[in-house]
Amino acid sequence: MDSIELMVNEHTYIKRMLEVVRKASLKVLFLDKIDYEDFARMIDFVRKYADVHHHGKEEKLLFNRMVSEIGGAAEKLVNNGMLVEHDMGRFFIQELEQALEKVKNGDNEAKLDVIANAISYENLLNRHIDKEDKVVYAFAKRALSKYTMDIIDKECEDFEKEMSDKGIQKKYILLLEELENKYL
Ligand SMILES: [Fe+2]
Ligand SMILES: [Fe+2]
Repeated sequence: MDSIELMVNEHTYIKRMLEVVRKASLKVLFLDKIDYEDFARMIDFVRKYADVHHHGKEEKLLFNRMVSEIGGAAEKLVNNGMLVEHDMGRFFIQELEQALEKVKNGDNEAKLDVIANAISYENLLNRHIDKEDKVVYAFAKRALSKYTMDIIDKECEDFEKEMSDKGIQKKYILLLEELENKYL
C-alpha cells in the first residue's frame, strides 16, 4: 500500500466535509438555523475520521519518522507546524461544541462562536491539507529511506485493515455523502 497516496486520498474526503461545515455555517448566518444533530455528526466525522483515523496515522507512522530520521527542517516543520495545527483544530472543535451547547441553552449571542469556530476550523484544515499535499508529504517521500517508507506502508496497510474490519472508513464516507446531499 502506498501510504502517502492513501493519506492524500483521505484529504479529499476531509475537504469535502469542510465544504459541508462551511455551508452549514452559512445556514446559521442567513437562515438563523442550527441543526444540532447534523453539527454533532460533522463533529463526529472530524474527531473520528479526520483526527483519530487520519491525523493518528500521520502522527504515529509518518511525522515521528520524519523527526527522528531527517531531523532539522523536518523536525521544525512537524513540531512547530503540523502538530500545532492538529492541536489548534482540536481546540476549534471543542469550542464549536461548547458554543452549540450554549445556543441550545438559550444563549443567542453564542451563534457568533458557532460560526467563528466552524469557519476557523475549515480555514485551518484547508490550509493545513494543502501544505501537506504540496510540501510535507513530498519532503517525506524525498528524504525518508526506502526501508523506512516500506515500514510505514506496511503499518499503514495493517491499520487500514483493522479499521476496515470495524467498518470505520465505510461509516464515515457514508455519513459524508448523506450530509453532502443535504447541504451542497
Ligand atoms: Fe495533518
Ligand atoms: Fe493530513
